[in-house]
Amino acid sequence: MSRIANDSLRDRIMSADDAAALITSGSTVGLTGFTGSGYPKAVPMALAARIEAEHAAGNPFRIRVWTGASTGPELDGALAKADGIEFRLPYNSDPIAREKINRGEMEYFDMHLSQVAPMAWQGFLGPLDTAVVEVSGIRADGSLIPSSSVGNNKTWLDRADQIILEVNRWQNPALEGMHDIYYGTALPPHRVPIPLVRPDDRIGDAYLRVDPAKIVAIIETEAPDRNLPFAAPDASAHAIAGHLIEFFRHEVARGRLPASLLPLQSGVGNIANAVLTGLVTGPFDAITSYTEVIQDGMLDLLDSGKLRMASATAFSLSPEAAARLNADMGAYRDRMILRPQEISNHPELIRRLGCLAMNGLIEADIYGNVNSTHIVGSRIQNGIGGSGDFARNAYVSIFMTPSTARNGDISAIVPQASHVDHISQDVQVLVTEQGLADLRGLSPKQRALTIIENCAHPDYRPALADYYRCAREGSYGQQTPTLPGEALSWHQRFLDTGTMRM
Ligand code: COA
Repeated sequence: MSRIANDSLRDRIMSADDAAALITSGSTVGLTGFTGSGYPKAVPMALAARIEAEHAAGNPFRIRVWTGASTGPELDGALAKADGIEFRLPYNSDPIAREKINRGEMEYFDMHLSQVAPMAWQGFLGPLDTAVVEVSGIRADGSLIPSSSVGNNKTWLDRADQIILEVNRWQNPALEGMHDIYYGTALPPHRVPIPLVRPDDRIGDAYLRVDPAKIVAIIETEAPDRNLPFAAPDASAHAIAGHLIEFFRHEVARGRLPASLLPLQSGVGNIANAVLTGLVTGPFDAITSYTEVIQDGMLDLLDSGKLRMASATAFSLSPEAAARLNADMGAYRDRMILRPQEISNHPELIRRLGCLAMNGLIEADIYGNVNSTHIVGSRIQNGIGGSGDFARNAYVSIFMTPSTARNGDISAIVPQASHVDHISQDVQVLVTEQGLADLRGLSPKQRALTIIENCAHPDYRPALADYYRCAREGSYGQQTPTLPGEALSWHQRFLDTGTMRM
C-alpha cells in the first residue's frame, strides 16, 4: 500500500533513474542517513550508474556529498566506486570511500556531528542544491514521517533548492510518533536556550516540515537498512565492561553519581555494545541514555527493564536486533526518542544533562591525549563522529579500547599520539582490559604513570616506562616530558617492520 497520503504530490512520483537525472555534476547533494539507517537507497544507486555512463562517455561527473554520518553501500559505496564523489562530509565508514580518501582521490571534511547543521545554516559550507531524503511516509497535510534516522534531515529539507523524497515501505509504520523534531534553533544573536532538561523531554514535532513546491521527485522503495551484525563480546570486551561497571559502582558509593547513573552516551562499535550488555546484569536501575545511536546493547538494556528510556538520532542495529525492534516497535516507541543530530549531540544539552560519555579510540598516549581517527597519524579510519561533542561536554568523559591492536602487534598506548582528536583535558577516564585509569585531577606526569601501570599491556609496559624515564631525563621541559623524535619513531617502527602495511 502506498505511504503517500497527500494526493497533490502524486504527480511527482517517478523512477529513481528519472530522479537521478535531476542532479547535475558539480552540485552539492545533502543525503540522509546515519550509521546505516534511514539513508536513500534507490536514487544514489541510479546516480552512480549514470555517473559511470557519463565517465564511459568521457564526461566528468562528480558531486559534493553531505550526509548525517555514515550510510550504506548503496550510497557511499556506490557513489565512491563510480568515482562520483568530489568532496564529502561528515563521518564515513564505507570501505570504498575510505580507500579513495586515503589515496588522495576524494576530499573529506571530518567535522563534529553537532556542527554540521549549524554550519550549513551559517552558510559556512556553501549552498545546498539538492536534498535526497528517505522518509517512512507522507501525511495528508504534506508533512513527512521520518525514517529510522533523523540526522540532518530537517536541515537538508530547509536548505536545499530542490528535494527528492524516497518513501521506503520497508520502514516500520509504527515509527510514526517516535521522532522529536525541534524547530527552535536560530542563528546568533537570536539563539535561545533549548528547553530540554531531561532525556525524555519532547520539545518539537513528530513530523518534518517541507515546502511542497521544492519537491521535484518522489520515489517509492522497499529496501532494508544496512544492519550489520555485532561480534560477540570477547574476553577483552568483557573485561573492559567489568572495569567500567566497577568504576560506576564506586562513583555511586562515593556519592558522585546517582544510583541510576546519569544519561549514558555510548559510542559506536563492539566494545561500547559489550559495555551496554554488561549493564544488563549490573546493579543500576532506571538508567537513561542521551546518545547518538541506539545499538543492540541498548535494546537489551531496554528489554531487561534496566534502561528506562533512550534518546538518540538513529538506530545502528544488527539484523537480529532490527527484526526484534520491528516486531514490537509499538512497545519500544514509547521509550525511545529520535532527534536531529544537532540536538542529540548538542554541547549545551550534553553539559546540562551530565552525560557519561563512553567512546572508542585508536590510540591514547601516556598523557591521555586520544586519537580516534588516524592510523599512524595520516590514514583516516572513520572520523571523529560525535565523540568530540560528547567528550568535551560530558560529566565524565571515558575512552575505552583493548590495550593492543592487530593481534597484539601494536600497543594502543603510545608515547605520543600520532594524531590528537581529544586533548588530555577532555579525557578523564581511560579503560583497557588491563584496568582503568582515573585521570581526574592528575598532572601530566601523574597521568603517565597511572596509564602505563593500569592500562598498557604488560608486553609494552617496559618500553613505555623506559620512554617515560628517558623523557624525564632529556625533555626540554618537565610539565609534559617528551622526546619528540623518539616519540614518533615508535610509530615509524611499525611501518618499517611491515606491521602497518595495508
Ligand atoms: N594502530 C593501528 N591500527 C589500529 C589501532 C592502532 N592502535 N587500533 C585500531 N586499529 C585498526 C584496527 O586494526 C582496524 O583495522 P582493520 O579495519 O584494517 O582491521 C581498525 O583500526 C578499526 O579497529 P577496531 O578495533 O575494529 O575498531 P572499533 O570498532 O573498536 O572502533 C574506532 C574504534 C576508534 C575506529 C571507532 O570507535 C571510531 O570510529 N571512533 C570515532 C567516532 C566515535 O567515537 N563515534 C562515537 C561518538 S557518538
